Amino acid sequence: MMTPERVKLTGAKETLLVTLAAKAGESLLPDSLLHDHFAAEAVARIDYDFARLGVDRDLMVGLALRSYLLDVWTRDFLARHPRAVVLHLGCGLDSRVFRIDPGPDVLWFDADFPEVVALRRRLYPKREGVTLIGTSVTEPDWIAQLPTDRPRLILAEGLLPYIAAEEVPPLLDRLTAGGPGGELAFDAYSRLGLWMIRNNGAIRRTGAELRWFLEDPTELERQVPRLRLLQELLPNDPEGCSAEQLARLSPVARWAALACRIVPAFGKVGRLLRYAF
Ligand SMILES: C[S@@+](CC[C@H](N)C(=O)[O-])C[C@H]1O[C@@H](n2cnc3c(N)ncnc32)[C@H](O)[C@@H]1O
Repeated sequence: MMTPERVKLTGAKETLLVTLAAKAGESLLPDSLLHDHFAAEAVARIDYDFARLGVDRDLMVGLALRSYLLDVWTRDFLARHPRAVVLHLGCGLDSRVFRIDPGPDVLWFDADFPEVVALRRRLYPKREGVTLIGTSVTEPDWIAQLPTDRPRLILAEGLLPYIAAEEVPPLLDRLTAGGPGGELAFDAYSRLGLWMIRNNGAIRRTGAELRWFLEDPTELERQVPRLRLLQELLPNDPEGCSAEQLARLSPVARWAALACRIVPAFGKVGRLLRYAF
């Protein structure tokens, strides 16, 4: 048996254990969508009191759905650009590269804080074509090591709300500069959405600060003129949350999801966004 990995993370770093626990839990449900058995295996090897986070079934279903939709966008981009560079920012212990299993010509970069990357190295096997970068993504220098001669897919799942608001546009500007262009995909929350995440029990227990919100996706086009909005998935969009996924939620969460379809302000609490650059 492998030695358990003792994990001591705090704040935004600890939130990776929320998403990991959710994806692990969802993979064990009989109607799993994401089938993230990598997450389940990682959880089994980590010495941490996951029960304290209180990740419930609704969070499992919601976070698995978010990852699933970003996986769909990733596969779509890689089908069009088999020699792409993928920048997976704030990767935490997400197993996307294993779930997607990209072709041999894809260069994949997983980036997160150094201690998170060190943990990732201990938990997941090495893989050809994958480079791990231990850095705060807001540091300006690490971007210089990325190839600039290939289409670039930038993924940021559960990351940008933890970045200081004034740092987000310059970060996206640096990431999208130079090279032949590509796409950027991430989740974003309105001010109300950020308040709701802040008050989610699991996130509150990590003490993470939530800082960046987006009311209107076209705002970002103005802040980073290289970006052009391609797609927006809202919770009230059947492509974002199908009837089948809705049916997996508890009655209270289903009611809240339906409220999103009726009350416009609720409909915009959280979105998945895809931009071209
Ligand atoms: C909610 S977790 C999401 C992890 C992963 N993307 C997932 O969906 O499972 C947030 C992640 O963002 C990372 N993060 C937050 N701020 C960061 C920064 N400035 N630089 C690099 N990573 C950061 C945290 O360490 C953590 O891994």
